[in-house]
Amino acid sequence: MNHLSINLRNRKNTISRNLYGQFSEHLGRGIYGGIYVGEDSDISHINGMRQDVVEALKKIKVPVLRWPGGCFADEYHWKDGIGPRESRKKMVNTHWGGLVEDNSFGTHEFMELCRQLGCEPYVNGNLGSGTVQEMSEWMEYMTFDGISPMAELRAQNGHPQPWRVHYFGVGNENWGCGGSMRPEYYADEYRRYQTYVRNYGDNRVFRIACGPNADDYNWTQKLMEIAGPYMDGLTLHYYTQPGKNRSATDFDENDYYVVLKNALRMEELVSSHLQIMHRYDPAHNVALLVDEWGTWYDVEPGTNPGFLYQQNTMRDAIAAAATLNIFNQYSSRVKMANIAQMVNVLQSMILTEGAKMVLTPTYHVFDLFSVHQEATLVGSWLEAGETGPAGCRVPLLSQSASVDGDGVLHITLVNLSASSSCSIRTTLEGMEEIGTVSAQVLSGAIQGKNDFEAPQRIQPAPLKNVDIGRDCFDLELPACSVAAIAVR
Ligand code: AHR
Repeated sequence: MNHLSINLRNRKNTISRNLYGQFSEHLGRGIYGGIYVGEDSDISHINGMRQDVVEALKKIKVPVLRWPGGCFADEYHWKDGIGPRESRKKMVNTHWGGLVEDNSFGTHEFMELCRQLGCEPYVNGNLGSGTVQEMSEWMEYMTFDGISPMAELRAQNGHPQPWRVHYFGVGNENWGCGGSMRPEYYADEYRRYQTYVRNYGDNRVFRIACGPNADDYNWTQKLMEIAGPYMDGLTLHYYTQPGKNRSATDFDENDYYVVLKNALRMEELVSSHLQIMHRYDPAHNVALLVDEWGTWYDVEPGTNPGFLYQQNTMRDAIAAAATLNIFNQYSSRVKMANIAQMVNVLQSMILTEGAKMVLTPTYHVFDLFSVHQEATLVGSWLEAGETGPAGCRVPLLSQSASVDGDGVLHITLVNLSASSSCSIRTTLEGMEEIGTVSAQVLSGAIQGKNDFEAPQRIQPAPLKNVDIGRDCFDLELPACSVAAIAVR
């Protein structure tokens, strides 16, 4: 029997809801077709936003949405995306398939999407190919309440009231697609650009600097040294790559464990970057934001390689759940994470095909984990073994636990084994007597997926046979499963 111990007296920090954030870029069908269908579409929509997708996303309580990129952000000129749609300037989306971008989804449409989702906007500015003035004016356009050239332009375009924009990114991947810069150079540029990203009225900007790619510790060190005092957040990008077999759906057990091992590397990366940040900023003024993460496979056969459209299986659900447990455990300083990407791109929540929509196994993980948003992390410890083939061993279980505002204890538990169920005894300290334990579980074959033919093949179901004692309970987790357990 494996053991999980939880001490409810060991209360830690609040888990920011923003760890469950999303990212949508002008990439493939991530926005066009996937979310935004335009006002003339036959697909049911409100102001051009497809309602099936918006309603599904509201259910998982999307807290924050990052836009317009990604690599696209450092080529995006926001003024091309405002004003009457028919006269908006077109551009070539050079990063993603070389398609013509007609700019019909711009600042106003993004803000409308956030309004419909009930989430915070996270706008990523263009440092790589844009000017300081352009970045400065974007913030003025969005948030200035008064008489100014940009506020007047916004009013002319139909929105006299300013929006609230708290999260603002000053460039994206400036070590790569955002300008191929050295950390010293970017750090100086960051300092200059962010100076002109103003706080207007009571809109307080949370300034976000471009952080490292995966294990580029030198980048983090230089950024913290040169620009640390000028930022509120530093980003980290890390994508889980498969081994030689890059198919999203056609893989064996060995491929499954390779992906999980690579996904779990997130813990080493987060803790190592945090160590550097602690050294330069012991007061924790700067948060770490993992604003791009997820699995990255080959595109679905027959689809545009530039669109990054991939299917999603139980393997992705397990990778997502184990990663979210890591974020919860490090939530004292990891304050935001944005999976890439929300719809139709990489590890998405939702896939669409015309008017049809499919919720992926990863969507269901976000649904199960939403109970942790703004709850208090509590101490939890596992005594469990490992699983996987020699050379690719991973922990058998992954966990995190929190207590919400109503005093309910939420535990998210993952069985990483591809083929074996496992029994777990959970012992609670600090709860007088267990009343009820209810659990939902998502499970299936490692290649299990939802598609347009069978959209509900993989979905959560109640976990039966939970054996409850005074201060402990026993349960059996199926192979390859994610459980969300509520203890009252
Ligand atoms: O999410 C796809 C791309 O991955 C983003 O545009 C870029 O920032 C990263 O390299």
